[in-house]
Amino acid sequence: MKRALKRLLAVSALLAVPQWVTAHGDVTPQVIDVTGLKPLGEAWVKTNPYRGDATAIKIGSSAYNQNCARCHGLGAISGGIAPDLRYLPPGDEGDEYFTQRVRNGAVRDGRVYMPKFEGILSQEGLWTIRSWLETVRVD
Ligand code: HEC
Repeated sequence: MKRALKRLLAVSALLAVPQWVTAHGDVTPQVIDVTGLKPLGEAWVKTNPYRGDATAIKIGSSAYNQNCARCHGLGAISGGIAPDLRYLPPGDEGDEYFTQRVRNGAVRDGRVYMPKFEGILSQEGLWTIRSWLETVRVD
């Protein structure tokens, strides 16, 4: 009886682990509310339409914390599990690189290092994150 109880407690402790990261790198993405921003449609635009936009930056800051910080670190300061996103190239060049990576994620040899976000988070939402990242950029 005592052992069964112990096992039950152990199982509930496991279940209490936040579900956003599993062994497979699965995440439960948090919907990004982009109210107030110009909608962009289905097709991906090449460069960030919200660069420097105060509303986008504010949305992006919290969207980053909810969807990316667990791997890339709070404030985009990497704790070492994933690249430090403050060093992404600025401007158009960085925009292109950023979208390639977030749309496709990072999968090698069947291992998911980063989940893909295309079709999971909106284009608008992902650009707000890019907008915020540019405000914390370092060389
Ligand atoms: C489950 C952990 C995880 C989550 C969540 C995650 N990433 Fe990543 N990300 C990684 C890892 C690990 C890499 C490095 C992949 C590799 O080795 O190719 C990476 C790489 C990247 C890169 C390329 C960086 C570079 O310097 O090459 C970008 C851009 C990026 N992530 C953006 C994001 C954004 C934006 C989010 C949130 C919407 C996010 N990631 C969520 C783990 C994660």
